[in-house]
Amino acid sequence: MNDPAPVAETAPGLTRVVLGVTGGIAAYKVAELTRLLVKASVTVDVVMTDAATRFVTATTFQALSGRPVLTDLWQTGADNAMGHIGVSRGADAVLVAPASADFIAKLAHGHADDLLSTLCLARECSLLVAPAMNRQMWANAATQRNVAQLAADGVAILGPDTGELACNENGEGRMLEAPALLAALIASRQPKLLAGKRVLLTAGPTFEAIDPVRGITNASSGKMGFALAQAAAEAGGVVTVVAGPSAVATPSGVTRVDVTSTAQMADAVMVRIGACDVFIGVAAVADYTPAATHEQKLKKTPDALTLTLKPTVDILATVAARAKAPYCVGFAAESHDVERHGEEKRKRKKLPLLIANRAQDALGSDENEVTLLDDGGAHRLPRMGKLALARRLVAEIAQRLPRS
Ligand SMILES: Cc1cc2nc3c(=O)[nH]c(=O)nc-3n(C[C@H](O)[C@H](O)[C@H](O)COP(=O)(O)O)c2cc1C
Repeated sequence: MNDPAPVAETAPGLTRVVLGVTGGIAAYKVAELTRLLVKASVTVDVVMTDAATRFVTATTFQALSGRPVLTDLWQTGADNAMGHIGVSRGADAVLVAPASADFIAKLAHGHADDLLSTLCLARECSLLVAPAMNRQMWANAATQRNVAQLAADGVAILGPDTGELACNENGEGRMLEAPALLAALIASRQPKLLAGKRVLLTAGPTFEAIDPVRGITNASSGKMGFALAQAAAEAGGVVTVVAGPSAVATPSGVTRVDVTSTAQMADAVMVRIGACDVFIGVAAVADYTPAATHEQKLKKTPDALTLTLKPTVDILATVAARAKAPYCVGFAAESHDVERHGEEKRKRKKLPLLIANRAQDALGSDENEVTLLDDGGAHRLPRMGKLALARRLVAEIAQRLPRS
């Protein structure tokens, strides 16, 4: 099973969010989202429909947000009685979660008969909607028509997921979990530096089989590769990750292709490379693989065991040497003389950009400290969390891309 997606401790781009809660069972999950946002230092103004207050009390949200909860179009507490317009002023986003079928219908038709629907119409910021309902309600032609209308109006539709529903059925209609909603809110605020660019990454270690149960691998976790995939997707890229064995969860909006060996990783990359604009080789690919894989488990004997290894295919160099190569970014994990070895690798593989880091710092940890190596020299970045670093690297890559 994959590790759960990491929950953001900070929320770059978010200062104040309006959280609209409508009448669905999933309203209880939004209490957790409120807590996560507040923990990430975001000011949360909760607005509930009348039906929402039948599921979770306003007191719960008031306690979690530390702010009054608004439920009434006629009593927003605004001095000029213009709360229906004022609530969303200055907010970074309005997120309606759960969004009932009824509320989605209202939004699609521009109704404004309660505080939440009115402020959604009067807002200046982006609107995100997380539907949650029984699978038939979701599949209903009217709901699908309304959702399509909202998407066409520029509203971001988050989910829904497929799975167990509150009505004891299984199917599509389950609201995304709180960490995924938080990630979507953060993503909505990131600059779209890679809009429309097709980005292919490799991530994690590879595993080279010795026999059916043993193999050669390394300490790479996949955290840096998946953080970069998330950052590239947030930046508007169309992102695919070819991943070696890694327990890291796939970020939302990212396509994942799981492989085991270097040869499989190379094959998976090569069939996709023609259709990509940027290739980022983050995986810690094995340099050698057993010359032969034993079909049966090797038996222990008192004798020394010699394994013959042969070099693996160099995925990054092969991609960079293509006639129509995408913009290629390499990673180098070195134990010593990091910048010198990194620059040698960059030159040897003919890469426009290489990210060099100390293997002891990088592999498996949650933070990293890297140096960017390009034709202009070495550019050191301070130590930071891998997702923050990934966003920074995406900005660095985007500004180096050839103008098309
Ligand atoms: C127990 C119960 C659970 C409900 N769950 C949902 C739900 O998950 N999704 C949904 O769209 N409607 C659900 N409804 C129906 C809405 O609460 C109803 O359509 C309501 O009018 C929505 O009001 P609002 O959109 O103003 O919040 C549920 C109703 C009941 C009684």
